[in-house]
Amino acid sequence: MLKHSRLAAWIDDMKTLCQPDHLVICDGSSQEYDSMWELLLAAGVAKKLNEEIRPNSYLVRSDPADVARVESRTFICTEAEIDAGPTNHWTAPDEMHTRLKGLFAGCMRGRTMYVIPYSMGPVGSPIAHIGVEITDSPYVVTNMHIMTRVGQAVLDELGTDGEFVPCVHSVGVPLVDGASDVPWPCNPENLYIAHFPTTREIWSFGSGYGGNALLGKKCFALRIASAMARDEGWLAEHMLILKLTNPEGVVHYVTGAFPSACGKTNLAMLIPTIPDWKVETVGDDICWMKFGDDGQLYAINPEAGFFGVAPGTGMHSNANAMLSLTKDCIFTNVAETDDGDVWWEDMTKVPPAHLIDWKGNDWTPASKEPAAHPNARFTVSAAQCPAIADEWEDLKGVPISAILFGGRRATVVPLVNEAASWQQGTFFGSIVSSEKTAAAVGKIGELRRDPMAMLPFCGYNMADYWSHWMATGNKPGVRLPKIYYVNWFRKDDNGKFMWPGFGENSRVLKWIFERCEGTAECIETPIGNLPTLDAIDFDGLGLSDADIAQLLRVEIEGWLSEIPLIEEYYAQFGDRLPAELTSELNNLRDKLQAAKSEVA
Ligand code: GTP
Ligand code: SPV
Ligand code: MN
Repeated sequence: MLKHSRLAAWIDDMKTLCQPDHLVICDGSSQEYDSMWELLLAAGVAKKLNEEIRPNSYLVRSDPADVARVESRTFICTEAEIDAGPTNHWTAPDEMHTRLKGLFAGCMRGRTMYVIPYSMGPVGSPIAHIGVEITDSPYVVTNMHIMTRVGQAVLDELGTDGEFVPCVHSVGVPLVDGASDVPWPCNPENLYIAHFPTTREIWSFGSGYGGNALLGKKCFALRIASAMARDEGWLAEHMLILKLTNPEGVVHYVTGAFPSACGKTNLAMLIPTIPDWKVETVGDDICWMKFGDDGQLYAINPEAGFFGVAPGTGMHSNANAMLSLTKDCIFTNVAETDDGDVWWEDMTKVPPAHLIDWKGNDWTPASKEPAAHPNARFTVSAAQCPAIADEWEDLKGVPISAILFGGRRATVVPLVNEAASWQQGTFFGSIVSSEKTAAAVGKIGELRRDPMAMLPFCGYNMADYWSHWMATGNKPGVRLPKIYYVNWFRKDDNGKFMWPGFGENSRVLKWIFERCEGTAECIETPIGNLPTLDAIDFDGLGLSDADIAQLLRVEIEGWLSEIPLIEEYYAQFGDRLPAELTSELNNLRDKLQAAKSEVA
């Protein structure tokens, strides 16, 4: 029996609307988890992996038409279009509700409606929030078990009248008149991922994949939470959280916003190449930050697991991820080996001689297509990560010393620069641009602005979001983190990465740590503070002096040619654009022009 009358009434309403054959309130137990896999195995969508090699783990193949987030079908439904802003798709709430009610009517016939009460963040943390996802996908139930905290403790925390974000999800394929199911039901022709920031609700129809369907993740923890954070004076960000410890045992916590598939999981689990430094993981994708009584920003990871990009992940690149994946995990759209294990591109240097690819076809190294889908993912509990920080579930969160912004930029943007102020840091965040990856459907490699890595995830007008960042920095009595812009993806004239990245990124983290401690050198430039040429330890990397100079150079011409592009980008926000950003842009132009005439 549910004690929470609003929750009970909402479930009743959804049952009447969706007309499922059965209703299950999820308890988060391992029996429930196992029973979902029985269903998925019977449906032919899942395969149990070799118990000897990868105990209690499953491979799932999605429909090839349902493999990534679909930004073109993602909607922010505010009363006024301007409040969703020019970077979001908008539909009026009434109109969207009407459309959704039509689609959801009877959509769960022949299926079971699962009700998943879940907490984003450790149950009871003052930074955490609760959601309830209704879904007809057992695959979603299994993933939510790992990615969030599910079950009775959440209902207890909700009590009789606690706040929760209602999230309704359907794959959008009712089974009428005893029709038989397909392995991965989905309805790409009628796809909607709709958010109502004012009433704080989420409706998702037609996809069973990742961020489209696991509604606690991008839909709640970023799109709805960003609007909650604006209203309540905190920050909900697409950021990893890591703990950095120097050889003397001094600790700083660092967050980093990088666009999808641009290195958050890798940085969060990094194994430093510099001796006696330690990186531990607090979170790999989402960060919620609130001010503590001491004026510092405290962060929690609202998630309980990792939904990580598989391709590119190997012992050579991310050993901690690989070591997390030894048991109890889910693999979606990877390839299958002849001995019943998994493989994906760059998991090992030499691919197996034969595989079954992500579509279920035979594959050999001579095949033209990749064996795993580029957005193939693993789902695993964060607790299984060997590098997980002891305090990752601390209710009060961890105090943040530095925030990194970055993207994939082959040119112009140096390895690292430090903002001279919170305001300049917000400006840097607002102009991040990055080459598109396979995490979302669309053209890969195209350069696009992805401010604060939030372009697909900000639940309101991006310009208002920047104003919120400015207001955060102007609060009296706060001790703000320093802000950095980093770029691991600089390429040389031959198109080769100039920076080795991965574990070597620890060298940059060390400089940032020492800047936080006030012990590292920098030079003031038009783009903020850059490390002096010897402030970062490049020993043993085989970089020439010219390479180092290139990585740490202020490319005056390159930055000057960015200015009109930024202006053009900003123009679409009209008078919503915070004046501080215009003044930062003007400052940058003036300083670059002054530097240019000095050189001339
Ligand atoms: P989402 O889960 O989509 O938000 O992605 P993410 O930001 O967590 O990205 P992830 O760490 O999974 O990395 C995505 C891809 O970038 C992988 O193929 C990595 O191998 C690659 N990558 C990560 N870090 C680096 C780096 O420092 N240098 C280079 N060259 N590639 C990197
Ligand atoms: C991303 O695309 O940034 C992800 C994967 O982290 S998804 O959960 O599908 O959004
Ligand atoms: Mn992400």
